[in-house]
Amino acid sequence: MQPPSVLFILPSSSYRIADFVEAADTLGVEMLVATEGHQTLAATMGDRLVPIDLCDDQTAADRIVAAAKLRRIDAIVPVDDQGVVAAAIASSKLGLTHNPAAAVAATRNKSTLRHKVGAAVRQPAFNVAGPRADFSELGRTLGYPLVAKPLSMSASVGVIRANDEEALGRAVDTIRNIVTAGGADPNEPILIEQYVPGSEVSIDGLIHEGEWTTLAIFDKPDPMEGPHFEETLFVTPSRHPPEVVSEIEAVAAAAVAAVGLRTGAVHAEMRIKGSDVVLLELAARTIGGLCGRALRFGLTSTPIEQLIIRNALGEDIRNIRRESSASGVAMLPVPRQGTLLEIGGVEAARSVANITAVDITARPGDAVRPLPYDGTYLGFVFAKAAGPDEVEAALRTATQTLSIDIE
Ligand SMILES: Nc1ncnc2c1ncn2[C@@H]1O[C@H](COP(=O)(O)OP(=O)(O)O)[C@@H](O)[C@H]1O
Ligand SMILES: [Mg+2]
Repeated sequence: MQPPSVLFILPSSSYRIADFVEAADTLGVEMLVATEGHQTLAATMGDRLVPIDLCDDQTAADRIVAAAKLRRIDAIVPVDDQGVVAAAIASSKLGLTHNPAAAVAATRNKSTLRHKVGAAVRQPAFNVAGPRADFSELGRTLGYPLVAKPLSMSASVGVIRANDEEALGRAVDTIRNIVTAGGADPNEPILIEQYVPGSEVSIDGLIHEGEWTTLAIFDKPDPMEGPHFEETLFVTPSRHPPEVVSEIEAVAAAAVAAVGLRTGAVHAEMRIKGSDVVLLELAARTIGGLCGRALRFGLTSTPIEQLIIRNALGEDIRNIRRESSASGVAMLPVPRQGTLLEIGGVEAARSVANITAVDITARPGDAVRPLPYDGTYLGFVFAKAAGPDEVEAALRTATQTLSIDIE
């Protein structure tokens, strides 16, 4: 029997390439890659590489459909946000399991997402401000503090808290600069919404034939109060009480149903405000950066990428559960703008009890810029222990051991 063949859509900037290549290898799956010019992949993939432009979903989908005439494709996996619409269109044409294009498109636009989710779950009160909007009026109506964000970006880029009218004006200017520098329409509307206080969680899940399965819920134990929202600590299992955990899962499933997603990975972020769980964001992908490495499943410690591939090939993964130990990851945000000289103390951080890996992704000489301008991270620290408190303690000790030298 021929091995199944899976096409992955990979932006060249993806953190996830190596992990998906390894998962495909382990599963004995033939891998095709659609990308916009990842050089190392181009060299090794030969005719299994499909060049696409990720800014043009329809043409990218046409390219993939054309490639399927030459080589069988059994499933298409969009690894990051950018490929979800092309994957939906191409899969639909090829008769493969897929999300409705309108559903995934909604996850790529923060305004459409808010409108599609509607009243299905709690969301912050919001307004979408066009280029000529009266921001002082909008600010007064919604009430401060507010969060302003561009519609089309991700990784907290351009997401800014404003406590008053003046700060909102500055935030809007900054967002316009960021959007323009990113090549998007400078007149792109800006989403303005009430700031939701409370602790933040993220939830990852997989959808199989429209049905939600929770893979992991991460607490984010560092306060994220703005004005910019760097990600730092993620710890699972959640330490919220069982009724809150159930509500987090219920909110994810209800939001997914409201948006209309039918298959594949989902990552959502929520805040726990008193007894309410408020949806901040929902994306049709797994957790970002290298954070997926904090997750292993079942008795054989299966990585999340293998689950994604197996689910895409039609296997019913609904019985899978995360391993029993607690786990976590600390993302290392860029502390200030400049040239990275060195990250010291890596060996010492690795030797901290319960630390399983320290993966530094930035290189000496890299030009780095913090949020709200740039959403890249310097690296990732991983821990595993019997309970979440020990995981959090290990991550804090290890990150304090690191010294970041930026000129
Ligand atoms: N309405 C809000 N209230 C409080 N914090 C928010 C709000 N919106 C965003 N944030 C913070 O900003 C982060 C990034 O916002 P999000 O909408 O998820 O954008 P992105 O797609 O860039 O990740 C969130 O994880 C959260 O910490
Ligand atoms: Mg987010």
